Amino acid sequence: MRTTTARVPAKINLCLGVGPRRDDGYHPLATVYQAVDLCDEVRATEVDDDTVTVRTQFAGDGTREQAPVPTGPDNLAVRAALALREAFGVDAGVSLAIRKAIPVMGGMAGGSADAAAALVACDALWGTQAKRRELEEIAATLGSDVPFLLHGGTALGGGRGEEVSPVLARGRFHWVFAIADHGLSTAQVYAEYDVLHADSPPPMPEVPQALLTALAAGDATGLGRALSNDLQAPALGLRPELQRVFEVAEEGDALGALVSGSGPTVMVLAEDASHSEELARLLLATGVCADAVQASGPEAGAHLI
Ligand code: C5P
Repeated sequence: MRTTTARVPAKINLCLGVGPRRDDGYHPLATVYQAVDLCDEVRATEVDDDTVTVRTQFAGDGTREQAPVPTGPDNLAVRAALALREAFGVDAGVSLAIRKAIPVMGGMAGGSADAAAALVACDALWGTQAKRRELEEIAATLGSDVPFLLHGGTALGGGRGEEVSPVLARGRFHWVFAIADHGLSTAQVYAEYDVLHADSPPPMPEVPQALLTALAAGDATGLGRALSNDLQAPALGLRPELQRVFEVAEEGDALGALVSGSGPTVMVLAEDASHSEELARLLLATGVCADAVQASGPEAGAHLI
């Protein structure tokens, strides 16, 4: 049986400005994405009928409890395969196998990453030869973060997150991800954001100039100071215990710390790889998170391996 495999990074938001809820329920965003080398892999294998199935295996030592990943048509990788098949009139099926390292419901777009990888892997398996633009259009129908996960690197995100454009960024940044033992629902965190702004709608968001300046200069200290996330307050409201991660990050002289996306993962910025190792040890030793994972970025978007 023929097989193709795509690797895809996790995403973080270096800033995440959230505007007032739109009529379609989504929120306008002004964000800077970065892809980091905490990667899932999606293997697509030919089948002799038209079924599209998925199974998931968790990477790592299996000690961290993981939320179950849907195996039916709600699985984003399955939806990606079905959307590509529909767009190109393919009648073949596929068996997808996901090897997951990106935390489930962790605010790092794990499900969206698997959708981007499934698009790339199925495009190669089925020989659909989709153009970049066509894959991006399908990606945007699957989720707000999926187009960025095809793109990778460091990029501006507008619209509801699906409008991705390049940004000037230098250097490599070293992160530690403090992972919680239970995920948060993105929709629930946005709903909490609306509650917090019930009396005064937020303004249309903008990307802070200080962040762009730090990225253009490859300045990790400046980046640490400029990190911002409008979803941090609602995520901390739902999970007040995350505050302890920030205290430990400060004790360890982190350059900055921020809730990742809609949380509950907290991303901690280190000076270099050895500082990130120290911070990971400290976070684990103090027991403020279920796991502490080191990764660096920027990293390429979904690609065949
Ligand atoms: O686009 P995606 O399916 O990943 O979004 C998941 C949920 O997050 C949406 O159903 C919506 O509740 C919320 N969301 C939002 N505004 C955005 C992106 C996501 O309200 N820009």
